[in-house]
Amino acid sequence: MPLYIANWKMYKTYDETVRFAQDHFTELISLSTDQKKIVLAPSFVCLDRLSTIFKNSPIAICAQNCATEKEGSYTGEVDAASLAQVGCQYTIVGHSERRNIFHETNQMVNAKIEMLFKHSITPIICIGEDRIAYEKGQTIEILANQLESIMKITAKQSQPYCIAYEPVWAIGSGALPSKEELIHIFEWLFNFIKDPRCTLLYGGSINDQNAGNVLQSPHLEGLLIGSASCNFQTLKKIVSLG
Ligand code: PGA
Repeated sequence: MPLYIANWKMYKTYDETVRFAQDHFTELISLSTDQKKIVLAPSFVCLDRLSTIFKNSPIAICAQNCATEKEGSYTGEVDAASLAQVGCQYTIVGHSERRNIFHETNQMVNAKIEMLFKHSITPIICIGEDRIAYEKGQTIEILANQLESIMKITAKQSQPYCIAYEPVWAIGSGALPSKEELIHIFEWLFNFIKDPRCTLLYGGSINDQNAGNVLQSPHLEGLLIGSASCNFQTLKKIVSLG
């Protein structure tokens, strides 16, 4: 079942987020079927409200980050238990914007994954190479390195999780890997991870023109969509292409 995760980053204010949910409530629900699941990832302060709006509906709510620790003196952080309490079923971790702008390390990403599993939240774990590594042909090497410690954690438990391949150079740039590159990478990811609990996603410059093609890659089961998901008509078109 393809997953469509709308990563709204810091694009929408609280009012805009609530208005989006209310204005498109009926259509969003009818788009999310047995074959397609829509997951909305607004900012932290909107989670509770969105989760109330979509309670008992097929729309799932997702946080964009969580704390590495359970509780304590961590000003500005949000714990995984609270995310579960407000109804988050998913949480994005290790997004390249978190890794690059906020200096998150693999070790921090791993701690977050463990916290999420403890609270039965499905982690959407982002991995991907930067432009330099891509140009040097080191994509697989980088992915294997990022996955090594992640797989040690996922192997210890039995819950579902998502791995989102997001080439750093593709995010927000309008550039995407070629069809052949995507086929090669997802074939490799599938064989390397070899875990039926893992859902493989792609993210980076997805729009209503390219989503159909990208989704044809074998083993790919969903999309992490950034800016294009902020516009309802574009999101609707992307979902209808899958
Ligand atoms: P983009 O972002 O679709 O705007 O490139 C994707 C992401 O960062 O998850």
